[in-house]
Amino acid sequence: MIRRLAIEGYRSIRDLVVDLEPLTVVTGANGSGKSSLYRALRLLADCGEGRIIASLAAVGGLDAVRWAGPERGILGGQVAQGTVRAKAVSLRLGVATDELGYAIDLGLPVAQQSAFDLDPEIKQEHVFAGLDPRPAGVLVERTRGLVRMRGDGGWRTLGSGMHPWASVLDELAGHEEAAELSGARRMLRGWRFHDALRTDRTAPARQPQIATRSVRLDDDGANLAAVLRTTIEAGWGYEVSRAIDEAFPGSRLLLPAVDGRMSVALEQPGMLRPLTVSELSDGTLQYLLLVAAMLSAEKPSLVVLNEPERSLHADLVEPLAGLVRRAAEDTQVVVVTHQQRLADALGGARVELDKQGGETLVAGREGPLDQPSWHWPKR
Ligand SMILES: Nc1ncnc2c1ncn2[C@@H]1O[C@H](COP(=O)(O)OP(=O)(O)O)[C@@H](O)[C@H]1O
Ligand SMILES: [Mg+2]
Repeated sequence: MIRRLAIEGYRSIRDLVVDLEPLTVVTGANGSGKSSLYRALRLLADCGEGRIIASLAAVGGLDAVRWAGPERGILGGQVAQGTVRAKAVSLRLGVATDELGYAIDLGLPVAQQSAFDLDPEIKQEHVFAGLDPRPAGVLVERTRGLVRMRGDGGWRTLGSGMHPWASVLDELAGHEEAAELSGARRMLRGWRFHDALRTDRTAPARQPQIATRSVRLDDDGANLAAVLRTTIEAGWGYEVSRAIDEAFPGSRLLLPAVDGRMSVALEQPGMLRPLTVSELSDGTLQYLLLVAAMLSAEKPSLVVLNEPERSLHADLVEPLAGLVRRAAEDTQVVVVTHQQRLADALGGARVELDKQGGETLVAGREGPLDQPSWHWPKR
């Protein structure tokens, strides 16, 4: 389970450390930085897949996403005057479980001699024991091209000449002596993110889809029917029926397959025929998509939902909260929402974000000492 998340210099987040629980609800007003936190988690997942640089380039490079405010925060002392930076440009991200943590430091190339000038560089990466990357706990350290590992007899070089765009998790995770690297990569892989489920008129989930076993929901929800069928065949039929019945009492989910294509339909009390997926309301479809996301046959280690309440009817908030709470018994869940009602119905641990002076802070924290401890390694 992910216990601690640290973000520095990303969008409205200058410096933020939060602890995560089996179910964590991130709330806050519009513009408080909820999506920034969500996207930072996504970037960390990208580190485990070897595509962090490509993801940053896709949104316009480091300059487009790095904290645009002053280096010193309003809680950390006086707001710096002027716009001159004293420190090097850096975006740092880290996560930790009780056993193992990973931190990455991204910056700009020193001398630009390439056509790919939106590409940032990986300056440092650390894999460490425990919840805080303080020096004593560092197990593997990558500084620019050099990778060192702490062994019984002190530091040992594991690799050199690493490319600035390649993560140690990608390049060296197979290294037989560095089990920590594959451990850290495993920690980051198998996270799932849902913020782009589509319910509009032309949503892919409204079209019949190829009937093939599907253990995880596509980003846009296209394979909804196949995921629900796979879940039911994997023995989770009771949980699916329960989620449907709590939201639409007396209704029954149908997954008709015709010519190798499968779709979703809902048999509802009082209706003379089942409603096909193209007839379902946006809110009903959104709910079914979330059922598929939370109950898919493959249980990820972490599921992150960004504003799942979108287009959901008020009556569906309680059933959704029940669904998420039950899923959180097996899978760690982070729900990002600005809806108070959903946050209250979910319970769980609460992280309330608040923007002060342009900076995302956790509401109620008085100063840097209120943050969980996190010591970024020195560059
Ligand atoms: N690079 C940046 N530096 C500082 N602030 C930023 C940067 N990029 C975006 N913001 C601000 O961050 C705020 C938070 O955005 P967002 O995370 O989408 O909020 P929420 O999801 O809580 O509505 C926005 O008000 C935006 O103006
Ligand atoms: Mg948002």
